[in-house]
Amino acid sequence: MQSIDRRTFLRGGLGIAAGAALAGCSTRRPTAAGTPAAPAFLSPTDGAVAAKEAARRPGMIRDFRLIATEQVVDLGGKSVTTWSYNGRIPGKEIRVRAGEVLRARLVNRLPKDTTIHWHGLALRNDADGVPGVTQEPVQAGTEFVYEFTAPDPGTYWFHPHSGTQLDRGLYAPLIVEDPREPLGYDEEWVVVLDDWLDGVTGTPDEVLAELSGGMSMDMGMDHGDMSGMPSSSAPSSSGMSKHMLMGAMSPLLGGDAGDVRYPHFLINGRLPGAPETFRTKPGTRLRIRFVNAGGDTAFRVALGDHRMTVTHSDGFPVEHVETDALLIGMGERYDVLVTLKDGVFPLVALAEGKKELARALIRTSGTGPAPRVGARPAELDGLIVGYGRLRPAQAVRLAPKNPDRTIKLELTGSMMRYDWAINGRKYDPKTIYGIRSGERVRLSFVNRTMMWHPMHLHGHTFALARGGIRKDTAIVLPNTTLDVDFDADNPGLWMIHCHNIYHAESGMMTLLGYQKDR
Ligand code: C2O
Ligand code: CU
Repeated sequence: MQSIDRRTFLRGGLGIAAGAALAGCSTRRPTAAGTPAAPAFLSPTDGAVAAKEAARRPGMIRDFRLIATEQVVDLGGKSVTTWSYNGRIPGKEIRVRAGEVLRARLVNRLPKDTTIHWHGLALRNDADGVPGVTQEPVQAGTEFVYEFTAPDPGTYWFHPHSGTQLDRGLYAPLIVEDPREPLGYDEEWVVVLDDWLDGVTGTPDEVLAELSGGMSMDMGMDHGDMSGMPSSSAPSSSGMSKHMLMGAMSPLLGGDAGDVRYPHFLINGRLPGAPETFRTKPGTRLRIRFVNAGGDTAFRVALGDHRMTVTHSDGFPVEHVETDALLIGMGERYDVLVTLKDGVFPLVALAEGKKELARALIRTSGTGPAPRVGARPAELDGLIVGYGRLRPAQAVRLAPKNPDRTIKLELTGSMMRYDWAINGRKYDPKTIYGIRSGERVRLSFVNRTMMWHPMHLHGHTFALARGGIRKDTAIVLPNTTLDVDFDADNPGLWMIHCHNIYHAESGMMTLLGYQKDR
């Protein structure tokens, strides 16, 4: 049964999304790659979207209730006022089986409108949670029901797609179980990484406001001017401003690692001094599902005294390979297997280029003392298996095929002007890159900037070109090009954007649309 809320939107017929598509239809965009004449696009309410959903053969319905609230949350010895789902950070994980229908009632008790985006899922377009594109914003004090079939097993997550809300505490894992799980393991643990400042040094909206001023604005500004701030959060002598971070360098990320200064880094919502502890027996074969829910931080993760076998990237299986550490950009996920030794081991997440550590613990014996806070396992500096050393599992390999269409997306902008964009254009819902159902599409991300960008496509899991792994979010290093291929098999309007929330919000987002057949 359809939810009342979605029906209301559908009945609207020409909702905002359709409006955007129609507006796109009348706009000529000579610069939009390979699409000289602007066509009409399938809207999220098109029959093709419903037909595709029916073809997923929706199974049993699973109900969830997500209350977005503003309240005090304990990070482990430190309490912050923040926005979260049901007062927890991360929100309680949602678990369904592939083929089941996830029905989630979002109750918005925030002071602002919000939405939920189900990151990584190839779901029906009208449940994708992009305000002004796939639905109207869910106003403060109202509710909205998301209802969709979860098609593919894997490790996913969800978060708002409204402003900088994702950099508060509004995020949680979404695990889609495989009814025929091929992997052998005894237990599993979901590990969610995050960079934290909300309620400590400011709010994400304040960060965006400061960054949007660009660097020039701050030059020569007298910081005594930043009145009303407690001295503990006043700008340091090395930094020019309160939130803007300069000189975070990482060779792994090709240079500048991030824009934002965070006072804390968390694993599963906990500070390093009060870590979550996973307790089990020695010899346990443990599946760890890593999710990077950060706003502006890549994490390098490792488990002290263990090697990890990488089994999945962004929910899709890879050929198993051993590694000491993994680099995880915002929005990315990896699954690994480890066979646990006897003792107490730190699971650490190094904020790449920012030098601080988040941590959790694994304890398989009751006695030993916990490693000290800040202990840096050697594995962090060992082998780091990246995209080039990973191969897709046979079952999820994209059949070789030449692209029917290539869309070139130049990543543009600079930290100085804070004008992050795609093909030099700030996000505008009327700019829609057209594709057709059935096409093999190549997105060619050409990074013209001095920074790395974790680029994310909604509604599809692309393959890194030329036989690479399946992913929905991929790091594009500065001054490099990354080609990704996918089959256009999920009609609707879909976002492509940088998963650095501050880059995205300042303009590094665009839309992909399925053209109507004529
Ligand atoms: Cu997690 Cu539009 O993204
Ligand atoms: Cu970016």
